[in-house]
Amino acid sequence: MKKLGWSLLIFVFPIITLCTCSSGNGASNDEVDRKVDSLISLMTLDEKIGQLTLYANDLNPTGPQKTTFCENEISNGRVGGVFNVLGTDNVYRLQKQAVTNTRLRIPLLFGFDVIHGFRTIFPIPFAEACTWDPELIKKSATLAAKEATAWGLNWTFNPMVDIARDPRWGRVSEGSGEDIFLASLIAKAKVQGYQGDDLSAPYTMAACVKHFAAYGAPIGGRDYNTVDISERTLSEVYLPPYKAAVDAGVLSVMSSFNELDGMPCTANKKLLSQLLKDEWGFKGFVVSDWTSVKELTAHGIAKDEAHAAELALKAGLDMDMQSGIFSENLKKLVSNNLVDEQQIDNAVKRILRVKYLLGLFDNPYLYIDKKRQEEITASQEIMDLALLEAKKSIVLLKNENYSNSKLLPLKKNLRKIALIGPLASNRINLLGSWHGHADTSIVKTILESLSEKLPNTKIEYTQGASFTGTDKSGFNKAIQTVQKSEIVICVIGENNALSGEAASRSNIDIPGVQLDLLKELIKTGKPIVTIVMAGRPLILDWLEENLPAIIFTGQLGTRSGDAISAVLTGEYNPSGKLAMSFPRNVGQVPIFYNHKNTGRPFDAKDRYTSKYIDVSNEPLYPFGYGLSYTTFNYSDLVLDKQTISSTDTLKITFTLKNTGNFDGEETCQLYIRDMVASVTRPVKELKAFKKVYLKKGEQVIISFTLTANDLKFFNEDMIYQYEPGEFAVFVGGNSRDLIEEKFELL
Ligand code: NOJ
Repeated sequence: MKKLGWSLLIFVFPIITLCTCSSGNGASNDEVDRKVDSLISLMTLDEKIGQLTLYANDLNPTGPQKTTFCENEISNGRVGGVFNVLGTDNVYRLQKQAVTNTRLRIPLLFGFDVIHGFRTIFPIPFAEACTWDPELIKKSATLAAKEATAWGLNWTFNPMVDIARDPRWGRVSEGSGEDIFLASLIAKAKVQGYQGDDLSAPYTMAACVKHFAAYGAPIGGRDYNTVDISERTLSEVYLPPYKAAVDAGVLSVMSSFNELDGMPCTANKKLLSQLLKDEWGFKGFVVSDWTSVKELTAHGIAKDEAHAAELALKAGLDMDMQSGIFSENLKKLVSNNLVDEQQIDNAVKRILRVKYLLGLFDNPYLYIDKKRQEEITASQEIMDLALLEAKKSIVLLKNENYSNSKLLPLKKNLRKIALIGPLASNRINLLGSWHGHADTSIVKTILESLSEKLPNTKIEYTQGASFTGTDKSGFNKAIQTVQKSEIVICVIGENNALSGEAASRSNIDIPGVQLDLLKELIKTGKPIVTIVMAGRPLILDWLEENLPAIIFTGQLGTRSGDAISAVLTGEYNPSGKLAMSFPRNVGQVPIFYNHKNTGRPFDAKDRYTSKYIDVSNEPLYPFGYGLSYTTFNYSDLVLDKQTISSTDTLKITFTLKNTGNFDGEETCQLYIRDMVASVTRPVKELKAFKKVYLKKGEQVIISFTLTANDLKFFNEDMIYQYEPGEFAVFVGGNSRDLIEEKFELL
């Protein structure tokens, strides 16, 4: 067939100058649809199938198996997008093949897992969520997009919004924790951050919300395992963050590896077509996860690869990541009348729409700009925001008196500090999993940052133990170092490989012999500040019982060293609040604050109530928990009405006072409980929060509002509605320590 030139494409896709609404590049949705339809009418079936095919660059795999992908596939028009391509030269080379060698010159999408930054790394999403600051998170996504797009990328596989209630699951590091409300706000913030207001701008990129759906609930916390939850739990707990991302205009959705109610999500028509596309009105495209189309055979619902392709496409999956199965089978399936070409057209349309909105048809090289890359990469703006976010992610778990004053912040006149632990002088493991194409040369260690901030203090460092293994040969040197010092700072936890994809752990203790090291160091009698870095909640019960000061940081990225030193020295007063409950032992898992009451709620005096006989029901640190160097007092909770109608707004006010000796920031949290409803309701549900900065001694009156809409839930018939009756309102600084009032909805 004769090649159509780029100029013809420009004719097919004239540059839009008149805009009637907001599709990113100024074109109205109707115009975009019209242009995409007209391009599809020119396409052969092979060309269409090509658009549905996505391959990873084999040099940079993020999954188990290589593919048959070779660059010729692009020139042959058999590829719609490529991911994991690093470097603008490589992006340019591949894009050029697509737009010069193929008949219709359709540009490629370039995807990448920009999860918490690209070259400059922000805190892992789980740590970011501990900021409880969606605006800040939005900015970090904006800047991550700015940096990644300057490297030629136009599509990120983020945000991951899977609610996680089981810290054994390694991917809790990639999400926003256990709460529905917080995770939904963050989902929206991230989509808006990546996609911005103008999708066709060179510094914004398409987002991809994942993993649809309920990937965060694998049985036993084991990655890729079966998910078996009720329709109610799915609707109430797991779906809202994806919905928030769709409402925010996310351009793509990734189907998850798991099954739901016996149907793998990649072939789940109820989920992909009926719910996502029909009910929620999602206009973007659905991409599979890495080879998850092929995996339909292992799930046991497809007899072979052709069958897998048929099931996935018919269910509403638009793009096949890495299996090559659409490419190999769809044509045959159409000629055998097993797949309708219209279904392929529908999928192509969704993908071309996104390419159009990204501005790729106007300029396929839009995202390739070396000058911009040099200016933007690790720019001051990005480095500063990475530092701010890292500081705000830090959660102070314990800070007790030592010789009559709190151990933290560190005293100004310290002469000798012993800095111990595998993470104290490490760069790469401060970054966490999915650290993009991080530039490790710009990462400062804790040792380096602390030495800069405390030039008159001698800081002696020794590793003491490594992350894993049983080697205790470093213990003696660590003990000697500690004996010579006034105070000890131990930086322990997980390395990058211990969390993230395919990194579930059955035991979520501090790994290796790091805890044994602490047990030896405590014998010296020196005060120990412990900094725990990890991609998930760990079991910290021994630390809580025995050590005076504990900080949890998650993994904070490029600016870890500076952020942690700022908190240690008191230059920054920590304000992070946990986005997940921390269990006392692994047997309590799954553990989450918004559980149901049961028919036999906990009663210490009654054996026949719902409890363990060997451990409390309560987590060690509850959801929403985090201390400050100052203290806050909540009082005078007042509701402006005792009863409200469905059209009223209830105003809730309380006084917050900074009662300590430092200026500081508090995250005030509001929870509700529906006391009696037609179906059981959680004992608490987060409905609002506010971050408030108060000078020491200062007090303010804070107010929240609630309406009947905030009281909705799915009734027995799965209708989302509110019911009259009594509600409790709780206010406080975490999900456990709360003051309470009641009101009635008429
Ligand atoms: C598999 C992961 O589950 C997914 O989150 C990621 O985006 C893809 N691999 C691509 O790297």
